[in-house]
Amino acid sequence: TMRTKIKEILNRQDTDYKVNVKGWVRSFRNNQFIALNDGSCMANIQVVIELGTDENIVKKITNGASVSVDGTVIASQGKGQRVEIKADTLTILGECDPEKFPLQLKNRPSLEYLREIAHLRFRTNTFGAVFRVRHTLAYAIHKFYNDRGFVYMHTPIVTASDAEGAGEMFRVTTLPFDNPPRNEDGGIDFKEDFFGRSTNLTVSGQLEAELGATAFGEVYTFGPTFRAENSNTARHLAEFWMIEPEVAFNDINDNMDLAEDFIRYIIGYAMEHNREDLEFLAQRLADEEKQKPQNERSEMGLIEKLEFVMNNRFERITYTDAINILLDSPAYKKKKFQYDVKWGIDLQSEHERYLVEKHFKKPVIVTGYPKDIKAFYMRMNDDGKTVAAMDILAPGIGEIVGGSQREERLDMLEKRMAEMHIPTEELYWYLDTRRFGTVPHAGFGLGFERMVLFVTGMTNIRDVIPFPRTPKNAEF
Ligand code: 4AD
Ligand code: MG
Repeated sequence: TMRTKIKEILNRQDTDYKVNVKGWVRSFRNNQFIALNDGSCMANIQVVIELGTDENIVKKITNGASVSVDGTVIASQGKGQRVEIKADTLTILGECDPEKFPLQLKNRPSLEYLREIAHLRFRTNTFGAVFRVRHTLAYAIHKFYNDRGFVYMHTPIVTASDAEGAGEMFRVTTLPFDNPPRNEDGGIDFKEDFFGRSTNLTVSGQLEAELGATAFGEVYTFGPTFRAENSNTARHLAEFWMIEPEVAFNDINDNMDLAEDFIRYIIGYAMEHNREDLEFLAQRLADEEKQKPQNERSEMGLIEKLEFVMNNRFERITYTDAINILLDSPAYKKKKFQYDVKWGIDLQSEHERYLVEKHFKKPVIVTGYPKDIKAFYMRMNDDGKTVAAMDILAPGIGEIVGGSQREERLDMLEKRMAEMHIPTEELYWYLDTRRFGTVPHAGFGLGFERMVLFVTGMTNIRDVIPFPRTPKNAEF
């Protein structure tokens, strides 16, 4: 018989039909009731086996074992479920020794412990929900851009350029470590390397996306990016996924509108298609919040927060406004900030969180950052001091989007690159977009994992990517 997914059974209204289900045992009560999960949805289905079933089979029905069940879907007498399966036959597919299985679900394992057994954590309710939501968000992202006629562009993972100019790249090489070839100056001779030059893992697909935007008009990338920044925080990964739309003829205001529409769309899509998962995660978060002292608890539940974002425009302020708000804040006056506030600083996460969580209590878009703290490609404003940058700050997270209108004027861009010691010869291909039919254009990057954090209410970025890579940690 064909396997039926548990989700499908639970979505059907009728009963009294035969099915085969396969999945993993989540619990087994009274030698009779199995809670079976197959990952298709949050819910387990109850499988009832006949009392007096072969003892050799019964003793192998343990938490974590995989089973195949042929039986009949019937109306359930028990509380909390509409239907259950009355088993005709049950086959153990894979045994699971309860003494050795590290995933004991009874006493709610902590997220920290589950991170240590990250290869098994997919089999918990929490991570089931998180990764189903992650999947849906990824799908919604493609749908959003596809519906609007954007071309999905695959930008290279291995590159020769540093898109952000921040020098936080992982080197890619096949040269031997013990005795690499040397050039006349005694340095490593990358001409001997695989690509005949030194190469790195990409930090962003933006520069290549700009080539696409100035041909197709509207493109986006969605791929892995890598940063060797030594930030061991709950918001940083060394390998993370980024979505980077890039649009010809857009200015900074169009860019902000696009980002807002985009974020709202994918949240709405997940709310519509993963309601059960999100409700479970909302409850998980509420339980977690109860452990905190009253004054540290967030005012809104997860679903409420998502609905709020769906229904309210983001606040839009300039960097200068942001600095003034911070200088006026009780937190500043009572010296509660660890880092000093003055015009010119890079906003620290404590500042960003003050703005979104305490002051505005909603997502905030900050524009017009000082040129000295932003990348070389951002368009210079008329004041000569600030650039047409935009960061979106989200409650509980901080920066979730970074973007800008791009400097489309060749002379201005070359001047800026020279000031920042960005090699213009190596980036000739990038500058060609400005030499040949240049146009105003703008784009941004959404950190996918930070978005998944926001939507799932999880608090550590290691818990929203299946295989996290962080400093001193690249398990499997
Ligand atoms: O602000 P960033 O560095 O911007 C860029 O890379 C631009 N090239 C984007 C563009 O305009 N096309 O990164 C964009 C976003 C950040 O706002 C953040 O959400 C996420 O990427 N991000 C990280 N996420 C997890 N771990 C890290 N180490 C991250 N660094 C950036
Ligand atoms: Mg940024």
